Amino acid sequence: MSSLVSDLKRKVAELEQELGQKQSRSDPDDGWRIQLDDLVDKLQVGAYQSSIDVEGTLLHANKALAKLLGFETVDQLKEIRFHQVFFEPDEYRHFVEDAVRHMSLRNRELRVRRRDGAERWVNAAARVRYDPGERTIRLEGIFEDITARKHAEEKIQSLNADLEERVKVRTTRLEAALDELKSSQDQVLQMQKLEAIGALAAGMAHEINTPIQFVGDNLRFLADVMGDYLSLVTVYRRLSNDMASPRERALARAEAMRLEEEFDLDSSKDDVQAAIDDANEGIDRVSEIVTAMKDFARPGGAIAPTDLGAAIRNTLIVSKREYEQVADVTLHLAENLPEISCDEASLKQALFNVIVNAAQAIEDRQREAADESPQARTQGCIAISVAIEGEMAAIRIADDGVGMSEGTRCRVFEPFFTTREVGSGSGQGLSVVHRIVVKQHGGRVEIESCPGQGTTASIFLPLGGS
Ligand SMILES: Nc1ncnc2c1ncn2[C@@H]1O[C@H](COP(=O)(O)OP(=O)(O)O)[C@@H](O)[C@H]1O
Ligand SMILES: [Mg+2]
Repeated sequence: MSSLVSDLKRKVAELEQELGQKQSRSDPDDGWRIQLDDLVDKLQVGAYQSSIDVEGTLLHANKALAKLLGFETVDQLKEIRFHQVFFEPDEYRHFVEDAVRHMSLRNRELRVRRRDGAERWVNAAARVRYDPGERTIRLEGIFEDITARKHAEEKIQSLNADLEERVKVRTTRLEAALDELKSSQDQVLQMQKLEAIGALAAGMAHEINTPIQFVGDNLRFLADVMGDYLSLVTVYRRLSNDMASPRERALARAEAMRLEEEFDLDSSKDDVQAAIDDANEGIDRVSEIVTAMKDFARPGGAIAPTDLGAAIRNTLIVSKREYEQVADVTLHLAENLPEISCDEASLKQALFNVIVNAAQAIEDRQREAADESPQARTQGCIAISVAIEGEMAAIRIADDGVGMSEGTRCRVFEPFFTTREVGSGSGQGLSVVHRIVVKQHGGRVEIESCPGQGTTASIFLPLGGS
């Protein structure tokens, strides 16, 4: 407080000097002063005037201040010391010190204590005033009740904290849900693969059935011929038996001639060769299908130099059942195609999905045409080509199916987006293609389509892998 006292002395001296100058110019107007006091009393904000000392004596106060501090009359309020109004122990001292140091202060938000002990928030202003008559300085100013605003602010703060907490909890939950979604997406991928393999297995059964059937037919034919040959051998044995009588031999010779004629040995020789060739071919076909299937179903994951032509041919073998009824397939590979670093198994899956879509689009077109006239059906075409374009290998799969609208084209990569009926499309095909090509290989997929004319899906893979 000692620095405060010396501060005060200095301020008093300054103010006296200033006042001396003012008094020579004008006289105080008492009538005006009374009006002013009246006005202050009617103010909605609390106004005060207090002595500047350790405790502060309230010299003037208005009704609004008395009400704010919980007193019935101004006189009751004036019975307490000004410092008792301040809630925090050192607040009054700081308040007076700051006011004196700067001659005034504004917008100081502080807590005051009401008569009943309750606290209120006020926005306080103060200025130091010199009273020339009494040659004293005083503190005067206003207290505006901002409790409601403060409480609202506190409420907002706690709401904010609450909100942040909730956002945190929500975020954690969302993250967990996202993880779950990711893992279920992996499961969907796995399921899709299984589904494709299931469809393949059905296709395989059909594919294998035909060659196996003619292998069986040929074997039965060969067994018949074998039976004939064995009966001939028996007759020849009788013929070459030294112990046999001439009559027995003559009988055997006649029998042999009859059988040879009956079996038509000369021409059956060619049939036997043809049957053996056919059976071998059937067996080759079966083993080709089985190898392709095994190849296709091999688990993926490893990036390795891959012969794109072989991968496409392999996929065409396993997907044959999907397209052979509706379309012819052409394959055109660029000359000197280098091997591409990629995950062959995943790539085949992507190709498979695109080829199935092409076949379905062609089938849709054929169905639409057949609805108009039953003879209008024409075999579709799926044209596959591979070219090197800059640093990329471009695999294009073009179909002459129904095509799709621009609205559909924009959404084809969305998981679960399908225009097919429930049960016939999972909406996963192209989203899986996108995932394999873009995410796994750092490539690109583009779909161009013209409704009624067809669609081209282009898969771009970086030559050196991603
Ligand atoms: N070659 C195509 N021709 C026409 N529309 C296609 C073609 N490929 C995809 N679409 C459209 O994109 C949609 C999504 O395809 P996809 O992701 O494979 O799921 P799904 O085949 O199960 O519907 C299909 O429902 C179809 O409307
Ligand atoms: Mg599909």
